[in-house]
Amino acid sequence: MRGLARTVMERCDALGGISEEPDLLVRPYGSGAMRRVNEIVADWMQTAGMSVRRDAVGNLIGRYEAREGDGGTLVLGSHLDTVRDAGRYDGPLGVLVALACVERLNDRGERLPFAVEVAAFADEEGLRFGTTFLGSSVFAGTFEPGLLDLVDGDGVTVAEAVRSFGGDPGALAGGRPPDGLIGYCEVHIEQGPVLEELGLPVGVVTAIQGQSRAGVGFVGEAGHAGTVPMKGRRDALCAAAEFVLAAEETARGEDGAVATVGRIEVHPGAPNVIPGEASLTLDLRHADDAVRERALGALRERAEGIARARGVRSRWEVRQESRAVPTDEGLSATLARAVEETGLPAHRLASGAGHDAAEIAAVAPVAMLFVRCEGGVSHNPAESVGEEDVAVAIEAMGRFLELLAAERG
Ligand code: GLV
Ligand code: MN
Ligand code: MN
Repeated sequence: MRGLARTVMERCDALGGISEEPDLLVRPYGSGAMRRVNEIVADWMQTAGMSVRRDAVGNLIGRYEAREGDGGTLVLGSHLDTVRDAGRYDGPLGVLVALACVERLNDRGERLPFAVEVAAFADEEGLRFGTTFLGSSVFAGTFEPGLLDLVDGDGVTVAEAVRSFGGDPGALAGGRPPDGLIGYCEVHIEQGPVLEELGLPVGVVTAIQGQSRAGVGFVGEAGHAGTVPMKGRRDALCAAAEFVLAAEETARGEDGAVATVGRIEVHPGAPNVIPGEASLTLDLRHADDAVRERALGALRERAEGIARARGVRSRWEVRQESRAVPTDEGLSATLARAVEETGLPAHRLASGAGHDAAEIAAVAPVAMLFVRCEGGVSHNPAESVGEEDVAVAIEAMGRFLELLAAERG
């Protein structure tokens, strides 16, 4: 197992060096860096005895056929896109552990009663379009065609980006999961401190909390920084600043809620010009959908109120709403048993982060295995996992496949 874990670590390092910017890791949907990682991972998949295809949005899918007949398909995987200034493990770890499991089967000349697909999703983080799960929604057949007109920061639509990434925008809504989909299981770094505090290398996920992502804008009036008196200014960035603090206050006032404004763009963006426009992103999450929806509504009213009081206009566009999703009890019980058979307790924990599993849960039972990460740090270049923990994850996933094979054999 250590040999396979070493390979997974080396591969995470190799993919971590493939970026759109020289000094930090960033791989948005449809970028040259995404093309390169897809090519590299496709080669690894082929070497592991898989046939490889790309779907309409550019997800990369490797397929390892069943022993015989039509025993359905189990999908393992995660995503290859990243946030900006990302770590090396968020996403790629799940793809590469899945690949390692298939490699092990292939090396032993072993086939299962079902096919195994390794899915490397092309967009989970939503860095480019402010949405999440673009890749897995196409795979699951849940893609919303309304998203085709969303634009990125350069005014490029989803449809155009899909086309230039070699995909087919017209076919996104027609995606459909593999026939006889048995389930989906994703390995992912925990991105939190729980497993480290408990001294455990892995844990089994119980639920993934819901999230809303919105684009919020304020439009005031640009003007001369030296000549326009303070009284009567319609400064869009001041309105946005008030909204940022309102988001923080709202989340602090709602137990378990988290709200983040991760990006602000100001137009025209010069030191001596009063900002005429400010656009920001809002990411709001809670384990209870009703609480999240209530907080989102309250924040919309706050944006409108701030705009009214400052004589500016506000814009509000909800780009994404994902409901909180419990993982499947049956599949998670099998995964927990697999962990226990490695000699470890199967600690259960919830996920604060979103994952492709949340999207695929609409069409199949899903389970997730979390891997301890140092200090719980993620969405940060300091993300770190231990090779020994990766070895445990590979062992548990190998056992998971054996247990499923025995159930279905
Ligand atoms: C994905 O990493 C998310 O939870 O934002
Ligand atoms: Mn992430
Ligand atoms: Mn992730």
